[in-house]
Amino acid sequence: MPARATLFVVLAAGEGTRMKSDSPKVMHAVAGQPMLGCVLDAAQAANGKADLAVVVGPAMEAVADYAVARAPGAQTFIQRERRGTADAVRAAGEAVNGHDGDIVVLYGDTPLIRPGTLTAMIESLAQGADVAVLGFEAANPSGYGRLIREGGRLVAIREERDASEAERDIRLCNSGVMAFRSGVLPELLGRISTSNAKGEYYLTDAVEIAVGLGKTVGLVEGTEQEVLGVNDRAGLAEAEAAAQQRLRQAALAGGATLIAPDTVFLSHDTKIGRDVTVEPHVFFGPGVTVADGATIRAFSHIEGAMIAERATIGPYARLRPGADIGATARIGNFVEVKAARVETGAKVNHLTYIGDARVGEGANVGAGTITCNYDGVAKHFTDIGPGAFIGSNTALVAPVRVGEGAYVGTGTVLTKDVAPHALAIGRARQVEKPGWVTNLKRKAEPKGEAG
Ligand code: UD1
Ligand code: CA
Repeated sequence: MPARATLFVVLAAGEGTRMKSDSPKVMHAVAGQPMLGCVLDAAQAANGKADLAVVVGPAMEAVADYAVARAPGAQTFIQRERRGTADAVRAAGEAVNGHDGDIVVLYGDTPLIRPGTLTAMIESLAQGADVAVLGFEAANPSGYGRLIREGGRLVAIREERDASEAERDIRLCNSGVMAFRSGVLPELLGRISTSNAKGEYYLTDAVEIAVGLGKTVGLVEGTEQEVLGVNDRAGLAEAEAAAQQRLRQAALAGGATLIAPDTVFLSHDTKIGRDVTVEPHVFFGPGVTVADGATIRAFSHIEGAMIAERATIGPYARLRPGADIGATARIGNFVEVKAARVETGAKVNHLTYIGDARVGEGANVGAGTITCNYDGVAKHFTDIGPGAFIGSNTALVAPVRVGEGAYVGTGTVLTKDVAPHALAIGRARQVEKPGWVTNLKRKAEPKGEAG
C-alpha cells in the first residue's frame, strides 16, 4: 500500500516576548536561516510527500509569506488569540480535519529537530501506536512537561505548573513533538478543555485522553540538544552553537580539513567539497559552494559565492553575493569581489575591489585596482578580457572593457575601452626639474653673519 502523505503542523504563533525583539521568534536565524526554515527543512526531509500547515499569530504576514516561499504549497493559518497549543492546532482545523494521513505537530522554536527523529515517530505509528510522543531525558527538567508512565507505558503529560512534587522529580520530559495516526487527532482535539493552572488548551492533554479512550500511546526518545526550545537570546545562541557543531562535523565527514573547526562558521546550506582546506576564522554566510581542492585562508568572509576547484581565497578576503571564482583562480588579501566572475587561473591578489565585472581567464589584476562600478545612480559593468594585465592602482571607470591580452599601465584612470593586445596608459606625464631642490635650499640658506 503506498504511504499516504503525512501532514506536519508547525506551531509558530508565539510572540516570543522573551526575545525582546521586533521580529517574531521563529524568524530569528540559526545557521543563516530563520528557525522556522530549519523546522520546515526537517519536515520536508523526513517525508518528501509531506503536506505542511503553519500556524502563525495575527499580524505575522511576514512569517506566513516566509513559510510559503520556503515551502511552496504550505498552507498557513492564523490563531487569533493565544489560547494554548491545542487551540493553535485547531486553528489549522481545515487542514487537520480534511487530512487522511498521519499528522505530526511540531513547534517552530525547536530548530535542531532531525528528519530521522520525525521519521521514527511516523514509524512508531506504523508499528501500531495511535499517538507518539517525542520525549527526552532533561539534565534540568524545569519548565518542561513531564512524561508520566505507569507500568512502563506513557499515560499522561503533566505541565510543570500542574505537576505534584513527586511528578516534578521526573526527568523524562516532553519535547513538544507529537504524532497522530490518521483520523485520531480531530477526535482528541475535540475533548481537550482548559482545566489546568494556565487556563489554556494544552495539546499535551491529548495523551491522557487517548489512554482513556483505550488508544495506544508510543514514546520515541530524542536527545536534549535536538529538542532544545528557543525562548530567549541565550537559547538562540545555544541553538546556534549546536547547529555549528553539526555543520562542522558534516564538513569534516565530507572530506574537508578545518584546521580549527571551532573558529569556522557555516550556514545551513554551505557546500564544501573534498580536500578543501579551511584555515582558522572563516565565516560562511548563506549560499556558498566550495568545490574540491580549494583553499580558504584565514579571516575570510564569504556569502553567496561559488568557488571552483583548487581556487585560493584569502587570507582576509571578502566574497559577496554573486562572486563566482573559477578553478585555480586566486583572490588574495584585502580583496572584495561582488557580482563578478573571476575566470580560471586569474589572479587578483592584493587590496582590490572587483564589483559587477568579469576578470577573464588568466588575467592579472595588480594591487589597489578598483572597478568604479557605481556613478551614484546605477551600477555598470567592467569586462577584463582573458590574459589582460591591469597595472597597480588602476581605476576602471565602468562601463569599460579591456580587450584580450591588453595591458593597462599602473596608475591609470581608465575611462575608454582598450583594444585587444594594446597598452592603455592614462596618468599625468612625469616631469623632472634638474637641480630644483638644490636651488630651493640655497635660497633658504641664511645670508653670511653681518658684522
Ligand atoms: C510546551 C509543552 C511542554 C513541553 C515544551 C517543550 C504544551 C502545553 N506544553 O511548553 O509540555 O515540555 O513545550 O519545549 O504544549 N504556541 C502557539 N499558540 C499558542 C501557544 C503556543 O502557536 O497559543 C506555539 C508557540 O509559538 C511555540 C509552541 O507552540 O512554538 C510551544 O508553546 P510554548 O508556550 O513555548 O510552550 P512551552 O511552555 O514551552
Ligand atoms: Ca517553548
